[in-house]
Amino acid sequence: MSTNKKHSSDIDMKRDEKNYDGKGLEEGIVKPMLRWYDHQARILPWREDPQPYKVWVSEIMLQQTRVEAVKPFYDRFLKALPTIEDLAFCKEDKLMKLWEGLGYYNRVRNMQKAALQVMEQFGGQLPSDYEELLTLSGIGSYTAGAISSIAYQKKAPAVDGNVLRVITRLTLNEGDILKQSVKKEVEKQVMEIIPEDRPGDFNQSLIELGAIICVPNGVPKCQECPVAFCCQAFKTGRIDEFPKKKQKQKRKIEEKTVLVIQETDRVGIHKRDRKGLLPGLYELPNLSGHLTQEEVIDYLEVSGFRPLRIQPLETAKHIFSHVEWRMIGYVIRIEDLTNKEEKDNSLDLIFEDPKKAEEHYSIPAAFSAYTAYMNIRLGQDKYKES
Ligand code: ADE
Repeated sequence: MSTNKKHSSDIDMKRDEKNYDGKGLEEGIVKPMLRWYDHQARILPWREDPQPYKVWVSEIMLQQTRVEAVKPFYDRFLKALPTIEDLAFCKEDKLMKLWEGLGYYNRVRNMQKAALQVMEQFGGQLPSDYEELLTLSGIGSYTAGAISSIAYQKKAPAVDGNVLRVITRLTLNEGDILKQSVKKEVEKQVMEIIPEDRPGDFNQSLIELGAIICVPNGVPKCQECPVAFCCQAFKTGRIDEFPKKKQKQKRKIEEKTVLVIQETDRVGIHKRDRKGLLPGLYELPNLSGHLTQEEVIDYLEVSGFRPLRIQPLETAKHIFSHVEWRMIGYVIRIEDLTNKEEKDNSLDLIFEDPKKAEEHYSIPAAFSAYTAYMNIRLGQDKYKES
């Protein structure tokens, strides 16, 4: 990225424009995209050594999480589980702990299912074939295309939200990008121009352009775009009309009261149900609705505890894809438990030393505003320093 770059890219742009025949998405974008990718793409850990397993892990992590947030998790995950076999046979609690902070835990559960499939059906080696990849749990058309093209250099489209944005702007595609038919159409268009010699780089160039130039929020950097010369939305001044997306259904709002229950040196945590949101993870005990201090005390007494002190905590909010939690919280000191009472508590709480809880139990980030009060650090906070 030298200062000469601007000058040479101006010249490149003029040449590309001359060769452009004025149609929608066409092969004319391939060369400028690859040239731009070679010089301007970010250096990212998963691009250094694109082995199939590593590409798979990175693409799954990147599906709902930002690049910067993924980086520390990616290295840590591969260090802990360096092979598909390690992933296939990893204990659930350890796996959830490795994913803590990334959220959308179903992604890693599906990855483990797929790893078992790979062990049983493909001798421990991820298949390179697009259709075979699609048979694996949690692998849809985007991930199959990414693995097949980036790790195996096979021609396959990898169309995610970034690519949909880039292509619909380039071609003034008015379709709703949340529709499967529109995605299929774009996949077909991309497939037609993927270069034989660099399919993975070409796919990544489209993803990269969507991430850093043809951005979703804020103003796209069209002046720096290598394919602005053939972008229909840019030429007609309609960039902010694309991509077209029908309004999603509004999220359901759920009110919750979160309890930090402290016994002498221990805190109360609870294993969530195996079904529903965040299945099988651990949580701080919580109740539906916003309860007053008196209501919380009554509730704890009825459940077999002896509250000594209660103090309100800050409010917090956590947004999942379909639900939003609006939380209030209390820290409550309770009288020491005898072993008998602990077993009998009707809330099925586990009382643990906070350090141990931090090491062994995966508590989703939704609770992070309150875990701070029990000396537990979660996910990204915890790994910031390591
Ligand atoms: N987002 C999804 N896939 C990506 C990749 N390979 N590089 C950067 N961002 C991405």
